[in-house]
Amino acid sequence: METQTLYQNAIKFATAKHEEKSQKVKGTELPYVVHLSNVAMEILIAAPATENFNLDFAIQVALLHDTLEDTQTEFSELESEFGSDVANAVNALSKNKAVPKADQMNDSIARTKKLQPEVWAIKLADRITNLQPPPQNWSDEKRLKYQEQARIILSELGSGNSFLAKRLAIKIEEYGNYISK
Ligand code: NI
Repeated sequence: METQTLYQNAIKFATAKHEEKSQKVKGTELPYVVHLSNVAMEILIAAPATENFNLDFAIQVALLHDTLEDTQTEFSELESEFGSDVANAVNALSKNKAVPKADQMNDSIARTKKLQPEVWAIKLADRITNLQPPPQNWSDEKRLKYQEQARIILSELGSGNSFLAKRLAIKIEEYGNYISK
């Protein structure tokens, strides 16, 4: 299948799933597909700058990356629609809610590190996309924590994609402008 067709199939599936929950981009009234397409855009721009990058795989994971964590989608459904490589990648990028909350990000990072560098790249792209002006009601403490989490993602997964690692490092520094202390 052509990359464009894989993209269309994945974005339609993911949009419908997130719409079932009327999910919005955090702190906005924008439909969640804006977040998904921004992550996919980062991947499309990083791909030609990355050797041996499997864009067909990565673009599907980018668009589907929040379906297990945020919607009713079952692992088996992802597996039958998009194959086990994509389903396993989305699973690694999802929090395991059976793990204590404070450990969920590190647990997901550890599972991601066992998979292809394209999966690492999607986590980097996800955080790049999320390091935009934070919701107004976020305290400085919460903003600092978010920035600190981004530094952990960069240090753990940055070697998976140097193009996106550079971009994330810049976004982390810029995010400091939204923190007053
Ligand atoms: Ni996301």
